[in-house]
Amino acid sequence: MRYHPVPPGLFIDNRKRLINKLPANSLVILHSNDQYPRNGDQFFSFRQQSDFFYTTGIDQEKSILILAPDCKNKKLKEALFLIETSEKIAIWEGHKYTKEEARKISGIENVYWLEEFETALKEVLADADTVFLNSNEYIKFFSEVPDRNLRFARKFKEEYPLHKTERLAPILAKLRMIKSEEEIELLKTACEITRKGFERVLRFVKPGKYEFEIQAEIDHEFTVNRANGHGYAPIVASGGSACVLHYVENNKICSDGELLLMDFGAEYANYSTDMSRTIPVNGKFTGRQKACYNAVLRVFKEAKKLYYPGNTINKLNEQVNKMMEKELIGLGLFTEEEVKKQDAEKPIFKKYFMHGTAHFLGLDVHDVGSKDEPFKPGMVLTCEPGIYIREENIGIRIENDILVTENGPVDLMENIPVEADDIERIMNK
Ligand code: GLY
Ligand code: MN
Ligand code: MN
Repeated sequence: MRYHPVPPGLFIDNRKRLINKLPANSLVILHSNDQYPRNGDQFFSFRQQSDFFYTTGIDQEKSILILAPDCKNKKLKEALFLIETSEKIAIWEGHKYTKEEARKISGIENVYWLEEFETALKEVLADADTVFLNSNEYIKFFSEVPDRNLRFARKFKEEYPLHKTERLAPILAKLRMIKSEEEIELLKTACEITRKGFERVLRFVKPGKYEFEIQAEIDHEFTVNRANGHGYAPIVASGGSACVLHYVENNKICSDGELLLMDFGAEYANYSTDMSRTIPVNGKFTGRQKACYNAVLRVFKEAKKLYYPGNTINKLNEQVNKMMEKELIGLGLFTEEEVKKQDAEKPIFKKYFMHGTAHFLGLDVHDVGSKDEPFKPGMVLTCEPGIYIREENIGIRIENDILVTENGPVDLMENIPVEADDIERIMNK
């Protein structure tokens, strides 16, 4: 792997915490991601299924984990099944884990080749009262392509209709929401790589550069610093494109006088960061741009204080919306009188600030966790207020990643330049 080895203690602990949540005689079956077909004989580059990585550290396709803590056969209480590597595979496709490597990475003693899975399954099923199967339960996400967990669940229910099955996803989500110290360290490494990407860009951007040239600078910095790549498709949006929230074409020329909104985050050891910064293409904000920028920055600074235990994303959104409404009035975009008369179902501020302020972050950029989940120490969320004024070609978002602790919020991106003056100074060095 490109990233430095992650100590297996993280995955050993994760499995222990999972097992502690299960009733007696449970069986857990977890699958890796697929290699998704691209075209012809090509696959898209592989990204491990996040729950599978969380419980094993194994970063390889066609892998299966069995946890059967109460199984009588000691060798199947915790077992990993991998594709058997061979000299031919090693020559044509490259390296696949040996059993010894897989043991070292995962901390799982019992590593088997995949062909032994069906027999092992029969044996663990004999002692299992409840079979926990995994699925992607992300709300508002629909895919036409069934993943390995879903295909297995369908096959399992067909072949073993008399066994009781349960959802594993809610249990894993609860665990994944709270980051351990090791996970926070990985996130910090990813934040540091993201910082390097941004500072490189600050020295590079000027009128006439293409958005994709800027993306290439980020790609370079990410790669040489051992990031897997981006945690999500990066946004490099100049001028009016910054008002398109999911703009990912990144193919326009950046012009003098425009703002440039960038939303990108390095993924390191499968942990993703999520950062947004907005800078003036020519290195100097206009008066109006700076007024809008500082309005977002004030909201950002106040919003960061709201990541305390007990708060929720839903409550935080309401708190930030109030601040934002005031700032938007201050920028002359609408008046208090208009707010008093507004339809409560369609508040005016939404025209200029139409997205939420926070989401959970971790192995996935939009990580597991609901909007009503009370914040607890160890949770990591984004803080990302923005103002988008289409009629002025102004789109500004500032986004950092915040760790909830008992002693108050910790900004994991504290050292990434954000003050307008600092941005101008670095750009003009
Ligand atoms: N970059 C995705 C987001 O900010 O939610
Ligand atoms: Mn975000
Ligand atoms: Mn973002």
